[in-house]
Amino acid sequence: TIPVILDVDTGVDDALAILFAVAHPGLDVLGISCVAGNASLERVVQNTLRILDAAGAPDIPVAAGARRPLLEPARSAAHVHGEGGLGTLRLPPSDRAAVPGSSIELMRSLIEASPRPITLVALAPQTNLALMLRQYPDLANNIERIVFMGGSASVGNATAVAEFNVWHDPEAAAIVLDSGIPTFMYGLDVFNRVGVAEPTASALLNGESPLGRIVGALLTNRIMLGADRASEYSGLIGDAGAVCALVDPGALRTELRPVSVQLAGYGRGQTLVDLRLHPGEDIVHGLHEEWAAVEVALDVDAARYERLFLDTLGLS
Ligand code: BDR
Ligand code: CA
Repeated sequence: TIPVILDVDTGVDDALAILFAVAHPGLDVLGISCVAGNASLERVVQNTLRILDAAGAPDIPVAAGARRPLLEPARSAAHVHGEGGLGTLRLPPSDRAAVPGSSIELMRSLIEASPRPITLVALAPQTNLALMLRQYPDLANNIERIVFMGGSASVGNATAVAEFNVWHDPEAAAIVLDSGIPTFMYGLDVFNRVGVAEPTASALLNGESPLGRIVGALLTNRIMLGADRASEYSGLIGDAGAVCALVDPGALRTELRPVSVQLAGYGRGQTLVDLRLHPGEDIVHGLHEEWAAVEVALDVDAARYERLFLDTLGLS
């Protein structure tokens, strides 16, 4: 099994990712760290605890981290994830609470105690990871790699060019990419393509299985998106695809590419990915700044992840 820590901003598709991660026998979810992003920190913690209850996995420690990005105020994503963060899904309150102390301390203790290097799975703005790596840089020695949902080598969503998680805290993403720890980018190029087909999602929503109804509600979430945007998001498994990448990397085409997080101007939050086949003038003339080398997912066998997702949850 792969020992993992999830960093989440639950979040409709973070919820799908948590359900998938705790159900997959190849993953050992040691803890979950929460950050403001898709919803406020308080909501994210509550949503995460409720989803773990629904998954029947209540022993996993959950901790609260940063309530805002490093430099900017937190910005609402209620137009995508609803006021509560789980769209139209309503779950009973959890009896459990977050563990005392910040999620940076939870991650630190889990990483230090692990006999094997840990994989960090970041499904949210990377504020917690950046704070942790700044405060405890030596933890990098026991981190295998950081797999993150974020960025794009093509289109954005938060802006025309920036993906939400990186856009929400670009400095944090830059710190993480520059940390020297191997990083794997599951960006919009693949994120936007992996989903459960509409008839299946609707059948789950209206079916008998309690877990299936939750998954169906999350997949068919249409919070205030309006008819045209609803189709953009409907059925996507979103962050759960980044967890699929851990257990079935063979469904992805990836390339090790130079990546730079843009911090200024309209491009703020964009991940520039150098896809050139040959060095250009900037490199030839020594004008190319230091860019991070990132393994970037560029293509995906979407049907394979759809099957993996449903099979793992016992919903096929
Ligand atoms: C990312 O931002 C959030 O909306 C999702 O949970 C995902 O992590 C997509 O840009
Ligand atoms: Ca997320």
